[in-house]
Amino acid sequence: MMNTHSKPQAPEDIVRDEKAQLDFSKSMSYGDYLQLDAILGAQKPLSPDHNEMLFIIQHQTSELWMKLMLHELRAAIANVANDELGGAFKMLARVSRIMEQLVHAWDVLATMTPPEYSAIRPYLANSSGFQSAQYRCIEFALGNKNAAMLKPHAHRPDLLAQVQAAYQAPSLYDEALRLLARRGLAVPASHTQRDWTQSYVESDEVEQAWLVVYRDPKKYWDLYQLGEELTDLEDAFRLWRFRHVTTVERVIGFKRGTGGTGGVSYLRKMLDVVLFPEIWKLRTDL
Ligand code: HEM
Repeated sequence: MMNTHSKPQAPEDIVRDEKAQLDFSKSMSYGDYLQLDAILGAQKPLSPDHNEMLFIIQHQTSELWMKLMLHELRAAIANVANDELGGAFKMLARVSRIMEQLVHAWDVLATMTPPEYSAIRPYLANSSGFQSAQYRCIEFALGNKNAAMLKPHAHRPDLLAQVQAAYQAPSLYDEALRLLARRGLAVPASHTQRDWTQSYVESDEVEQAWLVVYRDPKKYWDLYQLGEELTDLEDAFRLWRFRHVTTVERVIGFKRGTGGTGGVSYLRKMLDVVLFPEIWKLRTDL
């Protein structure tokens, strides 16, 4: 009989006493369920360099988190469109936490020094995160539309169809504004019915509509909460962009990117993208 003062058990005895299942010849194991053979078999360094494994896993894990982000984001957009804000808040909070997790993930990649990256650079050819289909779907779902970003996917009709769908659909912010309009706030028709492929144009009327919400949170509590969820999300996204450009600068300086852009100069321009402009502007005018 065990009590708190008895000697610790041997590890083998613990496993036996706990009756853990150890025979998986006839049932599904952990690795089977998670398809670990496929996932853990997908790291195939092209160079002889030790550090390429870090580079590959950093990108692959980011893509996995992006997959979850998109899954949550798409459902959140549908919920906002259907006036189901409770579910949307839960998912948007998760998207923001995933984004924060990806912000911290840069700490691992920052351990890669310039000579370490230079050793694998020739093997990367023209591949770049710029061509990430999932990332582009996220940008489009958040409203940063840009037809030029469809082109890297032209050779892959399956991916092109996904990116195109995100390009043509209303963004999270578009759906938020349509919701405000349904709640009787004065959002102009130009912002509730439009060609969703066009980039978002900031509007004084939209800011006024958000100001009505922010001036009376009690009356518009769920819309006010939606505004703050959007703020959280863009805040986390800005941090991700910033950590990316800073990590890139410490690793490659001002060299051109593998994707062909000026590198840091391109990524710095992306820091100026504002996804939900009126949500930020209203803070000055409140
Ligand atoms: C040492 C590591 C890295 C370097 C040197 C680097 C460099 C760059 C550069 C220079 C660009 C601009 C496009 C180009 O010309 O290539 C870019 C874009 C991009 N990178 Fe990275 N990157 C690194 C790691 C990562 C990681 C881990 C991710 C995560 C998935 C990532 C995702 C992206 C995305 C999504 C873009 C497109 C950004 C946009 O269009 O706004 N990068 N990267």
